[in-house]
Amino acid sequence: MNPSIQSIAKQLMASPKGLLAADESPKTSEKRFSPLGIPSTSEKRREFRQMLFSTPDIEEYISGVILHDETIKQKADSGETFASYLRSKGIIPGIKVDGGLVDFDNFDGETITEGLDGLASRLHEYYEMGARFTKWRAAFVIDESKRLPSLGAIHANLHQMARYASIAQAAQMVPIVEPEVLYDGTHSIKSASDTTSQIIRVLFELLKAYRVDLSGVILKTSMVLAGKNSPTQSTPEEVANSTLSMLDQRVPKEVAGIVFLSGGQSTEQARDNLEAIGSDSKDHSWPITFSFSRAVQDNSLATWQGKSENISAAQNEFIKAVRDDSLADRGKFKK
Ligand code: 13P
Repeated sequence: MNPSIQSIAKQLMASPKGLLAADESPKTSEKRFSPLGIPSTSEKRREFRQMLFSTPDIEEYISGVILHDETIKQKADSGETFASYLRSKGIIPGIKVDGGLVDFDNFDGETITEGLDGLASRLHEYYEMGARFTKWRAAFVIDESKRLPSLGAIHANLHQMARYASIAQAAQMVPIVEPEVLYDGTHSIKSASDTTSQIIRVLFELLKAYRVDLSGVILKTSMVLAGKNSPTQSTPEEVANSTLSMLDQRVPKEVAGIVFLSGGQSTEQARDNLEAIGSDSKDHSWPITFSFSRAVQDNSLATWQGKSENISAAQNEFIKAVRDDSLADRGKFKK
């Protein structure tokens, strides 16, 4: 019998592990590779993922990896597909299934996520390839002077996200719903909290309306913090208090788990904020962990530089980042 989506979600959320987001599109990979002089070819992206996934002991800290369409169709050095390779290490392969962001018609500076057309049949193919969970991301910009995000962008994006979640569950795959509130901007922590709270409230109203089973859903959210260019930066304690009180208020207790994206925070900043969240002494209804891309990959990528002689040093950077985040999530990094 196939495991239920609830048991897959439970395995993904099992402490002390987090999820690795390795689902950058070729365009995003190019943005990360080019400043380091690494050519962004399909083979170089494969080599980078091979380096990350073959890091010794990765399975101690990582329960699942979110892959891109390109990567799930590629092979590890062993000749197996990456999905089989990860499964052989006890790591669950997942897949990003949204089609990315496009400009949202006449909404200045806002985006809408594409990708519902043909989704059910794509999911069927990914299931056959071994994926057992999926991710769909929408992005929301905060701009107080333009009153963004607009109600139109919130509703249009979240309706699509809820529909995606129902299609994923019908395909026996766990949906990770990711309504990212962007860190870019000059907004205050209060503004980040109000916006994230509104978005998560609407998201759960719509997930219920689309009859999505919340016990088989993982929420991937931004931490609540002041914008990157805000004159008043948030301390880890402020981030933890604002994030957890918003989540306690807005996320139904049936939800299988909550994971955080790093959103452009540095490796240390994301870890310290996660540590403050993990140190909170209150009981919460759902397990919480990390699902970072940049915060766990950046140092490793900079060390690797696309060169085989740097693989071992780059793997050391990667395992350090995921181990530190695993400790931080339990409030044990600084202890
Ligand atoms: P970051 O941790 O770099 O924000 O990436 C997480 C992610 O999955 C973005 O969709």
